[in-house]
Amino acid sequence: MIERTLAILKPDCVRKNLTGQVIAQIEKAGFKILGIKKIRLTKDTAGAFYAVHKGRAFYEGLVEFISSGPCVPIALEKENAIADFRALIGATDPAEAAPGTVRKDFADNKGENIVHGSDSAENGKLEVGFFFSEKELIELI
Ligand code: RTP
Ligand code: MG
Repeated sequence: MIERTLAILKPDCVRKNLTGQVIAQIEKAGFKILGIKKIRLTKDTAGAFYAVHKGRAFYEGLVEFISSGPCVPIALEKENAIADFRALIGATDPAEAAPGTVRKDFADNKGENIVHGSDSAENGKLEVGFFFSEKELIELI
């Protein structure tokens, strides 16, 4: 099934000048970029995006980190996009990520882990919609 997934190149990825390198890996893996932008999230917007994690021990730190500098949300499309993108980026904690994955190669720790990927086809659609209007995506297809 063709799916959409939302990637976010997180502020650590931007600070390390790794955005181009990570985007190259995403394209090499066969993902089609439907939309891409560079923005800085406010704490409120970051809190809303990660609302599902509200109340968990890492929530405040996560909101602080993701709003600490610019990030690069990317709307992606591909057959089996959700699972394939999570395979490309690796486990949440780089110490547990498989060799050759983006997080294994570039992430410092579980909190600052370079990239976000949606965790289900349903969330992929919702999260793409959080950052991109359907109109701006359709115009570019
Ligand atoms: P993501 O949503 O960013 O793609 O990451 P994920 O599915 O692999 O992990 P998730 O459980 O959804 O957690 C979201 C983000 O919260 C931060 N986190 N820190 N210090 C910690 O124990 C911890 N746990 C999670 C990470 O930035 C993680 O990507
Ligand atoms: Mg997640």
